[in-house]
Amino acid sequence: MLNKIKLWKNQQHSSSLRDRIIQIKGQQVPSHVAIIMDGNGRWAKKRALPRVAGHHEGMKVVRKITRLASDLGLHTLTLYAFSTENWKRPKMEVDYLLKLPEEFLGTFLPELIQENVKVTMMGYKENLPDHTLRAIEKAMDDTKDNTGLTLNFALNYGSRAEIVDAVKHVLNDCQNGIIDENGLTEDVFSSYLMSATLADPDLLIRTSGEIRLSNFMLWQLAYSEFWFTDVLWPDFGEQHFIEAIEAYQNRQRRFGGV
Ligand code: IPE
Ligand code: IPE
Ligand code: MG
Repeated sequence: MLNKIKLWKNQQHSSSLRDRIIQIKGQQVPSHVAIIMDGNGRWAKKRALPRVAGHHEGMKVVRKITRLASDLGLHTLTLYAFSTENWKRPKMEVDYLLKLPEEFLGTFLPELIQENVKVTMMGYKENLPDHTLRAIEKAMDDTKDNTGLTLNFALNYGSRAEIVDAVKHVLNDCQNGIIDENGLTEDVFSSYLMSATLADPDLLIRTSGEIRLSNFMLWQLAYSEFWFTDVLWPDFGEQHFIEAIEAYQNRQRRFGGV
């Protein structure tokens, strides 16, 4: 059994973690996991470091969790990296956060390509700096034919704006005769959202003890399972991700039925 599990190159899980991975893969694995990666600032503050040090540490966790998500056989991992509200932060912090995709992909993209990961992005491209957009678009282009894990970054993403824009687009298509009112089903509406090509998340994880959605995937999370932890994102380890997935596997999803 152990040998049948394809692992990310050079991935070394402890034997107890391997056992839990095998156990998880023997049951229904959530296809799409979305994470609100929160608590970087508090992690840094606890160590008397600047907030950006927390963001840098958080980026290392993104690598680790991406590898594990791939090993677990997830279809999609969506990571909330920057919200449309995060522009309210000091410019220096915003600049740093928007440099991270470049730094992350600059070193990690070859591995992502090799491991068959497909990079996608959900969010407003307009206001992003050129260097950020270039890095993401290169990664998307270089991995567009990959068929393994979809690593979807929510970058400059806000759910209410996404929904309002979808409504505008629908109205426009109605006026132009592309769809009619009766054709507007929930599935059709979903196809107007930035997540059009993705299934809804099965599991939402939020770190750092905050119990809120902060404008994240409001439509798409209608029937997702939620898992909250007090652990700050830079401290989030493989065991926490495994714990969340095990909790998911013990939930009973009813979708309004019995
Ligand atoms: C999450 O950590 C990273 C982003 C929101 C981009 P925070 O920066 O929100 O950390 P806290 O919540 O202040 O601790
Ligand atoms: C949500 O975290 C956004 C991201 C993780 C990118 P925030 O830290 O911005 O959320 P609030 O302000 O605590 O609600
Ligand atoms: Mg926060």
